[in-house]
Amino acid sequence: MEKKYIYGASGHGKVILEIFEANNIVIEGVFDDNPGITKVLDYPVLGGLSMIKAMENPALLISIGNNVIRKKIAEELNSLYLNAIHPAATISRRSSIGKGCAIMAGVCINSNVTIGNHVILNTNCSVDHDCILGNYVHISPNAALAGNVSIGEGTHVGIGAAIIPNIKIGKWCTIGAGAVIIRDVPDYAVVVGNPGRIINYNSKIE
Ligand SMILES: CC(C)(COP(=O)(O)OP(=O)(O)OC[C@H]1O[C@@H](n2cnc3c(N)ncnc32)[C@H](O)[C@@H]1OP(=O)(O)O)[C@@H](O)C(=O)NCCC(=O)NCCS
Repeated sequence: MEKKYIYGASGHGKVILEIFEANNIVIEGVFDDNPGITKVLDYPVLGGLSMIKAMENPALLISIGNNVIRKKIAEELNSLYLNAIHPAATISRRSSIGKGCAIMAGVCINSNVTIGNHVILNTNCSVDHDCILGNYVHISPNAALAGNVSIGEGTHVGIGAAIIPNIKIGKWCTIGAGAVIIRDVPDYAVVVGNPGRIINYNSKIE
């Protein structure tokens, strides 16, 4: 059987390790480029990116919450990306999930949802019917996406945010904690408040 690993010895990494444990999937160890970290939970830190690159297509999940860094690492590696899906997540059989995704406890994905690669659906968030989420999106705990919402690549939706139906949010946006989104959001915008208003723009990511 292929050996399985994660990259990223952070708090997010701990949650991912416990999702694999909840599925009785054995993780051999963790990779991280911080030489000061030798262990996370009961798992050894085996080395950094260069060690992964020396392996032949290792089975791996990138356990890094920052969307920009997750994309950078994914583009540097040639791995077989694992999904970590908590058994207490509810996922419609008519929805599709890409590779390298982390889906945490209490998440609900309703009918006909399309989820890209390296997406994080954090604890107790909900993604309703017909939503489309691009690669490297992160939906934080307790955020709620109503039906037919689309979210572009790399966008981070903050904890407890709410997005009404049929909204299009662009790529690499930041939706602040608790924001209520009632209008479409352009690429790179940082939006906070109820109703959501743009306070800034993130730097462009290619
Ligand atoms: C939106 C966010 C990214 C802005 O961070 P920032 O660029 O450092 O902005 P600042 O803290 O300098 O705040 C800028 C202004 O926006 C306001 N603001 C920031 N976040 C806000 C929020 N979530 N809701 C309402 N107002 C907010 C600040 O009060 C400040 O207002 P002021 O200029 O009138 O004083 C951040 O506050 C946020 O909400 N992040 C979400 C984090 C999260 O949910 N993480 C989950 C991890 S799983």
